[in-house]
Amino acid sequence: MKFFVDTAVIADIRELNDYGLLDGVTTNPSLIAKSGRDFKEVIAEICGLVDGPVSAEVAAMGFDGMVAEGEHLAKIASNVVIKLPLTLDGLKACRHFARNSIRTNVTLCFSPNQALLAAKAGATYISPFLGRLDDLALDGMELIRDIRVIYDNYGFETEILAASIRSANHVKEAALAGADVATIPPAVIRSLANHMLTDKGLEQFARDWAATGQSIL
Ligand code: E4P
Repeated sequence: MKFFVDTAVIADIRELNDYGLLDGVTTNPSLIAKSGRDFKEVIAEICGLVDGPVSAEVAAMGFDGMVAEGEHLAKIASNVVIKLPLTLDGLKACRHFARNSIRTNVTLCFSPNQALLAAKAGATYISPFLGRLDDLALDGMELIRDIRVIYDNYGFETEILAASIRSANHVKEAALAGADVATIPPAVIRSLANHMLTDKGLEQFARDWAATGQSIL
């Protein structure tokens, strides 16, 4: 499973990229607003740091605006992926970009039928939002499982990008459900390495090693 980080914070991207844990980055208008920085400047900086795909979301609601904005964003760097909303205009824009070999991430997906439409429109990635479904006491993971079956039934190459991830458990469940990618907040990526028995074991080894009085170098 590929890991994207879901943030516009450069320090977090730099740190996680240095660990060798990043396959890409996703942003959205809320994350850009939170960063307080210029959108295109941030996207250019992220693309300079990370080799993998970097999702940049259009703000327009209509087809013509989405195409104009997407074409503009695609010129920032070759690893920019155009993020489009799952609306009829967004799907039409997705088809346009697919025909022009520009990669897309169709976002705000909440149903298997929406995912089916995105695949038919030639989306590179489909982003089902797990956490926002779970917030409503619905089953976000069932959506991933359903999309996996549908895409496999018809051989669609659109990658399932599990989004709106809130916990380490979401990452595990999405991996078990067959998501191709998960886009994960920085704190959740870091938390994946944690286990109390790892900490306990390490403390014990450190104490025992100190008692030997030896040094390796
Ligand atoms: C995905 O690309 C979105 O940016 C993101 O995962 C949304 O997550 P949220 O529901 O926590 O805002």
